Amino acid sequence: MAETLQGLKRSHRCAELNAANAGETVTVMGWVQKQRNKGGIIFVDLRDRSGILQIIFEESDCGSESFAKAERMRSEFVIAVVGKVEKRAGAVNENLLTGEIEVRAKEVRILSESETPPFPIEVDSKTKEEIRLKYRYLDLRRPDLQEKLMLRSKIATTMRTFMANEGFVEVETPILCKSTPEGARDYLVPSRVHQGSFYALPQSPQLFKQLLMCSGFDRYFQIAKCFRDEDLRADRQPEFTQADMELSFVDVDDVIEVNERLIQAVCQEAVGMEVSLPLPRMKWIDAMNRYGSDKPDTRFGMELIDVSDVVKGCGFGVFTSALENGGSVRGLCVKGQAAMPRKKIDALVDMAKGSGAKGLAYLCIEEDGSYKSSFAKFMTEEQLKALVSAMGGEAGDLLLFAADKNKIVWNVLGQLRLELGHQLGLIDENRFDFLWVVEFPLLEWSDEENRFMAMHHPFTMPMEEDWGYIDSDPGRVRAKAYDIVLNGVELGGGSVRIHQNDIQEKMFEVLGFTKEQAWSQFGFLLSAFQYGVPPHAGLAYGLDRFVMLLVHADNIREVIAFPKVKDASCLMSEAPDTVAEKQLSELGIGILAKNDNQE
Ligand code: AMO
Ligand code: AMP
Repeated sequence: MAETLQGLKRSHRCAELNAANAGETVTVMGWVQKQRNKGGIIFVDLRDRSGILQIIFEESDCGSESFAKAERMRSEFVIAVVGKVEKRAGAVNENLLTGEIEVRAKEVRILSESETPPFPIEVDSKTKEEIRLKYRYLDLRRPDLQEKLMLRSKIATTMRTFMANEGFVEVETPILCKSTPEGARDYLVPSRVHQGSFYALPQSPQLFKQLLMCSGFDRYFQIAKCFRDEDLRADRQPEFTQADMELSFVDVDDVIEVNERLIQAVCQEAVGMEVSLPLPRMKWIDAMNRYGSDKPDTRFGMELIDVSDVVKGCGFGVFTSALENGGSVRGLCVKGQAAMPRKKIDALVDMAKGSGAKGLAYLCIEEDGSYKSSFAKFMTEEQLKALVSAMGGEAGDLLLFAADKNKIVWNVLGQLRLELGHQLGLIDENRFDFLWVVEFPLLEWSDEENRFMAMHHPFTMPMEEDWGYIDSDPGRVRAKAYDIVLNGVELGGGSVRIHQNDIQEKMFEVLGFTKEQAWSQFGFLLSAFQYGVPPHAGLAYGLDRFVMLLVHADNIREVIAFPKVKDASCLMSEAPDTVAEKQLSELGIGILAKNDNQE
């Protein structure tokens, strides 16, 4: 039978002990990492969240009863040991924090036994992730995951403390909300009391934090759970956490200023990294033109080059027709890769097609200065020379070109740039490049909906100097919106909000909302705005993403205690699951048919 703690109190965590404790009698508790029985002497590696400590059992010290318990210990048994700290008789273990010492057991209790675990609890586990996720509670015993979650906790604490010191008030906003379109699909919760009606889980606390500004809280902060029913990626989960804020009586620079100091504090206190301020800023249009992305990875060069002017009137129809259709021709100069094997170039072409291109034109500048190219035959020697020169191409370089609408060209070359940056090892993984992307377009044309859509959300303030174009050329109007980007990942985003009725009404009109539609969806906000609303602005970080980047994790799952997998299910709890008929009928819900993708 498992023993109790009665009369025992833990004195230290395992790795809190060191040579300075030699001679002390201590009480430690944790899990058996490994037991080695060498006959008259048994070594046990004891593990808790601080690290590993070697315990040594000899019958002459601990008596026959405790020695018998040590003999029967297996991995993952939970034990308590009372013993004396000694300098190691054997070799010092440089790999352990406690490598200079061991604890000579006097008494031991087996607090809980363990079955053989489905995989060993060790750093850098080789076990398949599906199995580890099924037994997430065991996976979370692994020191690398524990470290990441402890760091996450430290980052959250640093943020809370910083925000509190800056006068932000922490307010919790509802989880059961009204469905309002904000980009992604909502998760819905059926109402039992109001059958046929649904709550939506919040995609962000956006509307509530704006209401809190109307209520006069002035500065709001929350570490908030958000829910979005969208396709998962390496940096996306259906439920995730935002570090969310809103401020009154501020403009863009005020929000950026306080957030730069927040970023500095988090990096300094959580991971000991110095960040010098101010952080660089880049206009959205420059980010697109130079990097083909609104979240550029600026840790390496290989920027996009616009060669539209150079190829105007050339003999290559692919280029000229793109220009005639209002598009552009842009290229990447891949240094020293002229000898890239055909197969690899074909793979790049396929990748470009996968990101929406009709093709990818290439030109290799051979060492002797001659060209090998998919389109050279359509151009004169002179035109080719001008093109190569515009690209800064030298002998040994590979030039890649995309011709299409700007949006496609940016996307294709932006993706290729990143892929090549990784493939060719151009990225310094030790660098942390923060970047503000500012002056986003207010609106984005949607071919699908055949109308302009808000690029952020309908409450984003336009830039005063562009507002005059709202009727004549809405696509030209820039917004007071900003994103904070780290190493090519969108860490967070926000904007100054509209607080004037006339601008808000115009926005709804441009977005194709009738007054009735706007009031039916956002009535409580619009109503609040009729009773005195301060100018306000805010920002939200994806906390999971912030942690993921700071701890060098490849996937957001590594920094979330209980994450979901690609199909949005939890392999451990097996959520989502069917529910009893009775529960459904209480809600007035019947299941029509299962989707094809469900069994
Ligand atoms: P936005 O939609 O840009 O802005 O979200 C803010 C940040 O949240 C993170 N994020 C995610 N992280 C993990 N999984 C997801 N599925 C996911 N979706 C978003 C990103 C993103 O930058 N209310 C506005 C903020 C504001 O204007 O103040 C908002 O939600 O890091
Ligand atoms: P084609 O004349 O269609 O054989 O194309 C000649 C070359 O141009 C091939 O290498 C194609 O991959 C490339 N190409 C086709 N369409 C585009 C495009 N929109 N942008 C860049 N290159 C293209």
